[in-house]
Amino acid sequence: MNLYKYVSDKINEKLGATVNLETPRNREFGDFSTNVAMVMARTAGKNPRELAGDYVAKLAELDFVENASIAGPGFINIKLRDDFIWKNVAAPEQIAAAKPMVIDMDYGAYNVAKSLHIGHLRTSIVGDTLNRIARFVGHKTISYNHLGDWGRSMGMVIAWIKRIHPDWPFFQDNFDASADYSSYAMPVAELDTYYPAAAALAKTDPEFMELAQNITADLQKGHPGYNALYNVFIPVSLAAMDKIIQQLNMLPFDRNLGEKNAALYEEPVENILRDKHLLEQSDGAEIVVVKRDTDTAPMPPIMFHNSRGATTYDATDIMALYYRKITDNPDKIIYLTDSRQKLHFEQLFRVAELTGLFPAENLEHIGYGTINGTDGKPFKTRDGNAAGLSDIMQMVRDAARARVAESGKNLDDETIDQIALAALKFNDLMHDLRSDYIFDPSAVTSFEGRTGPYILYTAVRLNSILNKVHGEKAAPKDYKLNADERNLLIQIMDFERTVLAAFDKRATDMIANYTYDLCQLINTFYHNCPIMRDDIDDATRGARIHIVQIARDTLATAIDLMGLQIPREM
Ligand code: ARG
Repeated sequence: MNLYKYVSDKINEKLGATVNLETPRNREFGDFSTNVAMVMARTAGKNPRELAGDYVAKLAELDFVENASIAGPGFINIKLRDDFIWKNVAAPEQIAAAKPMVIDMDYGAYNVAKSLHIGHLRTSIVGDTLNRIARFVGHKTISYNHLGDWGRSMGMVIAWIKRIHPDWPFFQDNFDASADYSSYAMPVAELDTYYPAAAALAKTDPEFMELAQNITADLQKGHPGYNALYNVFIPVSLAAMDKIIQQLNMLPFDRNLGEKNAALYEEPVENILRDKHLLEQSDGAEIVVVKRDTDTAPMPPIMFHNSRGATTYDATDIMALYYRKITDNPDKIIYLTDSRQKLHFEQLFRVAELTGLFPAENLEHIGYGTINGTDGKPFKTRDGNAAGLSDIMQMVRDAARARVAESGKNLDDETIDQIALAALKFNDLMHDLRSDYIFDPSAVTSFEGRTGPYILYTAVRLNSILNKVHGEKAAPKDYKLNADERNLLIQIMDFERTVLAAFDKRATDMIANYTYDLCQLINTFYHNCPIMRDDIDDATRGARIHIVQIARDTLATAIDLMGLQIPREM
């Protein structure tokens, strides 16, 4: 049940007003509070407390209201009846969004032949959770790993390989495109060194930069040797990427299709642009002007072809729009990247409108903030390098292992991996995704406080209760709840609203923080409401087991939406 919606609908109907419900800080006063009397007083020609008095009398007539009372200048507090809560609380089932949509979700979007780094952490974690939530509430999503596999970095890598292996067949005039070159595949650890080396050289050596740029253009135009070499290193890179996707326990992407796939649609897209007179020549390049008279901030044109005739990142994104239009025809496309790509997406969405591919309101870019170290600067490894995703995961694993050792527990590697992953992901999810946050591997692995391990620990605790109580008495229908029981059940009844809002607001922190609050209420209940103790009567025991069951199912659902896994023991 969507408790919030149920209660507010009934109250709206009763009062003939649109009521904004809140949760009072002090739960002793009520389960909900509202300022409706203060909002409506002027129109009603009454003072707020007087109107609140009228409302309170009406609210008392509702069958789920235990009591309604006035507080302060005209706030109304509403307390729900126990029997109403007890009768209606249930484990979460499929939750239905008001308007199911087809949504293309563009996240992850890793670059091939470059190792994944800390900048890809949030797009992976938040994107995966947003996708899981969208599906859970009934949207049809198509997840895209929009691979960075067709841009300048490809030319850089090939130029570097040419430099270290000039004798390789890919670079010879008599290159035989029909032969098998798979034996040229290099280990990924080696491949990963090529791009950084090439990029460093290109900075000081304009000739090398020139070479890399020409190779990029030639690759795109179909140069057989470069394409054969490309086909040798791409699988090496994709396999490494898959491993990380699995380690992060992400849902597999529906489409691992990126820039190269998009570039197949160059011709139809170019035709649209020409038909609409949107392509302009500029210093040998082709551009699309997206500026509007009303702009107050600079809005540079989009580069469609650079002066070498190579296809740009901007251009492949237009082509990807075309591809998505003709294959999925989605109601929405959601892109999740670092907030520094804001301008790129503003430009892109304008082209979408100009070409008629998508109205701008169907396109959405979510820009996330930076992950900083405890010094407040972008997170670096101890040797001062930008941290790779594998390094980060290893750091958290080490920290989790140290925590476990400290606590004297003896847990297997699989469990430690699950704890580490929960630590990393929960910490990411609990922060407002649009803001920066500080990452401290040791802090996130704590078993106490707002952390992933605390969440898992609570779930393991509930599971272990349920493992012990098989075949206990059923829950009585007329059970009288105590405060700890009812607070927990009300939080459970708030799950549906939270999940729907988390998706609508694209706010994954709502799920994480809801889960933390849920765990706190579960642990308070656990401490104050014994179940198996001898002096507990059967009715109470049955009721509490029932509560544990619903709490566990709700918590397990939330944990699953965050892409975490509950260990067998902890
Ligand atoms: N590969 C890009 C990067 O790592 C992100 C791509 C985002 N998606 C897109 N359709 N442009 O920065």
